[in-house]
Amino acid sequence: MPEPTTPRVLAITNQKGGVGKTTTAINLGAALASLGEQVLIIDLDPQGNASTGLGVAARDRENTTYELLHEEAPLASVIRQTSVERLDLAPATTDLSSTDVELGSQENRVFLLKDALSTDTARDYDYILIDCPPSLSLLTVNALVACDAVLVPLQAEFFALEGLSQLMLTVRDVRETANPGLRIEGVVLTMYDQRNNLSQQVEALQGAYTAKVTELQTQSAEQVKGIAQHHQQLFLQQKKKLLKENRFS
Ligand SMILES: Nc1ncnc2c1ncn2[C@@H]1O[C@H](COP(=O)(O)OP(=O)(O)OP(=O)(O)O)[C@@H](O)[C@H]1O
Ligand SMILES: [Mg+2]
Repeated sequence: MPEPTTPRVLAITNQKGGVGKTTTAINLGAALASLGEQVLIIDLDPQGNASTGLGVAARDRENTTYELLHEEAPLASVIRQTSVERLDLAPATTDLSSTDVELGSQENRVFLLKDALSTDTARDYDYILIDCPPSLSLLTVNALVACDAVLVPLQAEFFALEGLSQLMLTVRDVRETANPGLRIEGVVLTMYDQRNNLSQQVEALQGAYTAKVTELQTQSAEQVKGIAQHHQQLFLQQKKKLLKENRFS
C-alpha cells in the first residue's frame, strides 16, 4: 500500500472524564514517533494536560490552540517541539474554555480546526493526534470534523459503556453533516485490571460498536502515574509490535 501523503488525523475522545484520553495521546504519540513517524499532538482541552504532560509549562505557551481556533495565529507559530524526538505539540491553556461562547455563533464554527490544519505545516506530519476535552462541546465537534477517525479510550470498568452511545450519536451527526468519511478507529481499553473478569463486557462492546477493540492497556496504574509526574512518555516495548501491525491506516 502506498504511504499516505497527508497526515492521519485521529481524535482521541470520550466525554467521560479521566478515562485516559491524554495519557493515550501522549503515549501513542511517543510510540509512533519512536517508529520514525512525525507526530503532532493538538491539545484541545482547556485543562492543558497534554501540554503539561509533555513538559511545556503554562508560561511558555505563547501561541496556543486558542489563537489557532480564533484565526489569530497560524499553525506553524503555535507548534512547539517536545523533548521527544519527532513529537511536536500545539499547546493549550485555560483560555480555550471560553471558545464555545466566543465562537459559538460563527457560521464556520465547526470547521475552524479543519481549516487551521489545511496547511503545508500540517502536511509535514504523518500523524496528528487531537487530545479532546471531557465534553461533547464545540471543541470536540471541531476535532470530529477535522479528523479521519476517532479513537475512544474506555476505562475497563462497569459503567464505561454509559455515555458511549451519546458519543456515537455525535459521531453519526458529524458524519451526516460535516465529515462524511469519519470512522471509528477503535476503542482503547485503559486501566485494564486482569483481576476483574471483563471479558463479557468487552464482547458486548465489540458486538455493539463493531469497532476494533485495541488493547493498549498499560501494565500498572502506578507506573503510568509516576511517568506523568516526571513529564516523560511511556512506551512499553511489547506494544511496539502491536503498533507496527496496526498502524491506523
Ligand atoms: N492506561 C492506563 N492505565 C493506568 N492508568 C492510566 C491509564 N491511562 C490513564 N491513567 C491514569 O488515569 C488518570 C486519568 O488519565 P488522563 O488524564 O489521561 O485521562 P483523561 O481522559 O485525559 O482525563 P480528562 O477527561 O480530565 O481530560 C491519570 O492519573 C492517569 O495517570
Ligand atoms: Mg485529558
